[in-house]
Amino acid sequence: MDDTGAGPVLILGGRSEIGIELARLLAPGATVVLAARRADQLDDEVAAVKAAGATAVHTAEFDADDLASHGPLIAQIVADHGPIGTAVLAFGILGDQARAEVDAEHAVAIVHTDFVAQVSMLTHLATAMRAAGHGQLVVFSSIAGARVRRANYVYGSAKAGLDGFANGLADALHGTGVHLLLARPGFVIGRMTQGMAPAPLSITPERVATATARALAKKKRTVWVPWALGPVAFVFRLLPQFVWRRMPR
Ligand SMILES: NC(=O)c1ccc[n+]([C@@H]2O[C@H](COP(=O)([O-])OP(=O)(O)OC[C@H]3O[C@@H](n4cnc5c(N)ncnc54)[C@H](OP(=O)(O)O)[C@@H]3O)[C@@H](O)[C@H]2O)c1
Repeated sequence: MDDTGAGPVLILGGRSEIGIELARLLAPGATVVLAARRADQLDDEVAAVKAAGATAVHTAEFDADDLASHGPLIAQIVADHGPIGTAVLAFGILGDQARAEVDAEHAVAIVHTDFVAQVSMLTHLATAMRAAGHGQLVVFSSIAGARVRRANYVYGSAKAGLDGFANGLADALHGTGVHLLLARPGFVIGRMTQGMAPAPLSITPERVATATARALAKKKRTVWVPWALGPVAFVFRLLPQFVWRRMPR
């Protein structure tokens, strides 16, 4: 049971590079739960979060695509560690755009993990946090969802849907004591984008985590990482379609 008063920090996608960096920043004095597939293979992640100052680090088996498992998982974490203080939804897949354009099953798999599973988990978490009267949710949207591009429209559309859902949920939670932070990183140099040429304004998982933790502490509603992507996204929306169609991913 977490006895810090703040409630445990839950990282859903406990192997995510951004998720672990954020867990390290939120760790000092906290109970942290890393929920991931193959939860028995999280030794490095557990050690990193412990070294960052967590009071205790636990692991839990979590497959985001198994929607039926979401409710029982949250109930179990609350029963074991008390009402969740901060939940970070750090799971996601980029998928293979070229394949998804012709393979409907793959297109649906991307949207299932990056939108449907997030909607399910956010609804379970918001319900549990409302009941407790407090809690913080961290959602990772993306510049890819700001205006969907031809070059990555499957992943981009899932992020656009998630961004819209999280915006509405943030408003629904207003005044309940539960806060939702919507983080919108740009191109992150890391595992998810391995082998891809970095886009302009590229950042690292550490930088995303630092900006996200700062925005969380300030109870901000949205954060672009880097901040300059906010104005860039504004300009993106103004570009004519014949230009936009040719934009690289
Ligand atoms: N990297 C970027 O350029 C970028 C940019 C903007 C937004 N984001 C978003 O930021 C979030 C974190 O990304 P990241 O950069 O930290 O990527 P990452 O290191 O690849 O982490 C993503 C994690 O999601 C987990 N995952 C995927 N499908 C899952 C499932 N069905 N069930 C449980 N876990 C699953 C993976 O787990 P396994 O280890 O089991 O595969 C992986 O650890 C994602 O939502 C991503 O879309 C990333």
